[in-house]
Amino acid sequence: MTDFAPQTAGGKVLWHFTMSLDGFVAGPNHEMDWLAGATVRPGLIDEYVQSTGAILAGRDGWEVINGARPYGGGWDGPLFVLTHHPEDATPTAGVTFLSCDVAEAVRIGLEAAKGKNLEVFSPTIGRQLLELGLIDEIDLHVAPVLLGEGKRLYDNPGGPTIPLGRVGDGDPREVVNLRYRPLTD
Ligand SMILES: NC(=O)c1ccc[n+]([C@@H]2O[C@H](COP(=O)([O-])OP(=O)(O)OC[C@H]3O[C@@H](n4cnc5c(N)ncnc54)[C@H](OP(=O)(O)O)[C@@H]3O)[C@@H](O)[C@H]2O)c1
Repeated sequence: MTDFAPQTAGGKVLWHFTMSLDGFVAGPNHEMDWLAGATVRPGLIDEYVQSTGAILAGRDGWEVINGARPYGGGWDGPLFVLTHHPEDATPTAGVTFLSCDVAEAVRIGLEAAKGKNLEVFSPTIGRQLLELGLIDEIDLHVAPVLLGEGKRLYDNPGGPTIPLGRVGDGDPREVVNLRYRPLTD
């Protein structure tokens, strides 16, 4: 397994999420409380703080976090928020509201990232970028929880099947084996 290979800065466009085992990145009303109790390996947050040069988010996700900085405030790079109506957004230091097509948003974000990675923090924008071939990596941390409903990582009824190759050593088409048991306490 290669899931401990650290993320590296390389001017990549990363679609980066913590996801429930059943494929949700937020609850139905953007809830994130399901993350409580999940642990990450030591150094993981700092790895992304160091390798991330800029972040591209959608307006809904931005409104939900209500001005909070990503990575618990440990990261202070440029954050871009895509919206069709930037005129009613609350001006916030370090945040640029963009109203352009997604490809242009990526160009702007990568330029601001200065050789580090651009992280896409939005399922809807990620789907649009995937269709344009502009996602370099899908980078997921699977939390040990089933949600049953919420915001899916990839929600595209009628859309194409997207074949993926696992990043790292070995056969990229090999399935990843995960075993869980329900917790009773
Ligand atoms: N689990 C994790 O690790 C993680 C990390 C980050 C975020 N999240 C969650 O992800 C959820 C947000 O995702 P979401 O997909 O529901 O909403 P979203 O992408 O954050 O916001 C959607 C909005 O973004 C704007 N937008 C999207 N594409 C656009 C385009 N091409 N041009 C202009 N504006 C565009 C539109 O805003 P307007 O309506 O203003 O035009 C659209 O309504 C939140 O619940 C957040 O908490 C989870």
